[in-house]
Amino acid sequence: MDKPDFIHKYIPAPKPHSPTLLLLHGTGGNEDDLVPLGEQLLPGASLLSPRGKVLEQGMPRFFRRLAEGVFDVPDLVARTHELADFVDEFKASHQLDRIVAVGFSNGANIAASMFLIRPATLTGAVLFRAMVPLVPETLPDLRDKRLLLTSGTYDPLIDREEAIKLRQLLERCGATVLHHWIEVGHQLTRQDVVTARQWLTKEFS
Ligand code: MLT
Repeated sequence: MDKPDFIHKYIPAPKPHSPTLLLLHGTGGNEDDLVPLGEQLLPGASLLSPRGKVLEQGMPRFFRRLAEGVFDVPDLVARTHELADFVDEFKASHQLDRIVAVGFSNGANIAASMFLIRPATLTGAVLFRAMVPLVPETLPDLRDKRLLLTSGTYDPLIDREEAIKLRQLLERCGATVLHHWIEVGHQLTRQDVVTARQWLTKEFS
């Protein structure tokens, strides 16, 4: 079988045993998008930033959707495994230890899916504007995972209940979740960055 691969950017940490931030962009982004954010969020971490392989009208994404907020679940499952295989292989070949996802929107949704169906790959995550990607038949054991969710009170794409459902699902699996609300819409704000930086520094540096 071919080695799993994605177009990606990798910036190794200066010191060994530093955590790695897995940067997962939103719809229409690419591997360059979140690198400046990653550098701000946890200085000294390695950064691994893949580009989503699905194109929606030319815009890269991590999995197919049938309409806004309506996911093609078989594709999502297959793409989640493909991304987790890539990260697992990268982790082994570069001797990385802790992988912490930082995802925005579509990237946050595939990161949530990784916790639900490939829980061994990630140690923690910052999920900006995430929703429930899928509900697996058997819930994973996430007792050793730590996540920060930041949601926008006025997000036109994700209802309040939807973001709360994701938090409840992750908590039902045993994860430790901090859910932070910001009075904004879907876009990332300075407040997301400040909140995420404080949380990552406390939990992973
Ligand atoms: C998704 O498709 O993952 C969500 O609707 C968020 C987005 O990418 O717009």
